[in-house]
Amino acid sequence: MEIIVVKNYEEMSKAGNEVIKNVVLENPQAILGLATGSTPIGIYKNMIADFKNGLVSYKTIKTVNLDEYIGLDASNEQSYVSFMSDVLFNHIDIDKSNTFLPNGKAEDPSVECDRYTSVLKTMPQDIQLLGLGSNGHIAFNEPMTAFETTTHVVDLTESTISDNARFFDSIEKVPTKAITMGIKNIMDAKKILIVASGENKADAIYQMVKGEVNINCPASILQNHENVTVIIDEAAASKL
Ligand code: GLP
Repeated sequence: MEIIVVKNYEEMSKAGNEVIKNVVLENPQAILGLATGSTPIGIYKNMIADFKNGLVSYKTIKTVNLDEYIGLDASNEQSYVSFMSDVLFNHIDIDKSNTFLPNGKAEDPSVECDRYTSVLKTMPQDIQLLGLGSNGHIAFNEPMTAFETTTHVVDLTESTISDNARFFDSIEKVPTKAITMGIKNIMDAKKILIVASGENKADAIYQMVKGEVNINCPASILQNHENVTVIIDEAAASKL
């Protein structure tokens, strides 16, 4: 793991954007694995700024997203499909037909999981961007998820529901299930970039970097990937 500690969220976002930009400049047909949550928003802002300044084009890239809530309409602003449009896709020159997410409204979620795993097989990520849950989850792979999993349906833990409640009018409105890429799908990415900011991520960062590789901290599996860049601010690095 390459660990880069920067001063704050703003610096983390700039440095994260540089890593993604280099992948796109090197290969304009790159497949980018993208993430939701609040942490990547600053990276997306930098991507948009670079596009607007003519420094990079996303016209021919493709994207696959990590996860989606089950049960929210695509028009619901908290669905991840709508979130991605708001924070990134609507502001760059990407062809939206080249952007892929699990369908959280599929009639049979388990069929949808198999479909999404097939999509990932044909579109392996050149780089996968990840945030980190305060309990060490990556995508929606909660603690105790087997490392061999592919796309699957998850029951969100109470800690994830309460972390994510800030985006909803009330905690009752937070979906309790989601479809997520499995840990295996994440580990199959050629390169992984994980970003985290703030003191509430410090324990998870410690477990991820210095703890045992163990399903209690799903992110600890990243120690076994050969090309991982960790960009964190000083607060998230404070327990290392
Ligand atoms: C959600 C997402 C994860 C994300 C996590 C952390 O659970 N499914 O992909 O990493 O939130 O979110 P935040 O970046 O807002 O702390």
